[in-house]
Amino acid sequence: MTQIDAEAIPTVAIDFMNEDHQEAVELLNLLLEALAEGTEGEVTSSLQNFYVHNREHFAREEEQMLRVNFPPYGCHKGEHDRVLAEIKQVIERWETDTDRAALLQYINGTVLDWFMNHINTMDTVTAMFISQQSA
Ligand SMILES: [Fe+2]
Ligand SMILES: [Fe+2]
Repeated sequence: MTQIDAEAIPTVAIDFMNEDHQEAVELLNLLLEALAEGTEGEVTSSLQNFYVHNREHFAREEEQMLRVNFPPYGCHKGEHDRVLAEIKQVIERWETDTDRAALLQYINGTVLDWFMNHINTMDTVTAMFISQQSA
């Protein structure tokens, strides 16, 4: 089973965001582990943990964006909302079909691509803006 390398995750200018992103990698690796050798129940709870983590992490980023009046707030929040809705749908699908191959493909493909891309673009710009406002 291939694990995600936490050191491959780009860093941004705000510490709490980096810490949250590292935690996301840990949760994704637990999910991959559960998918490889865990029960269906373990996969479901790992998936739910990942969903809750994202909901809380996104809320923290959004709170900071509002605090500093980040102009593209709506655009960044829109991406967060879209991804949360997507993960929710994937959880429902998993609970119906328990298709491990499909879920693995979603994590290794869609989620990882999104995660790297989102950090490299919206999170990087947002963190830079927040750190300049706070300075
Ligand atoms: Fe983030
Ligand atoms: Fe974000």
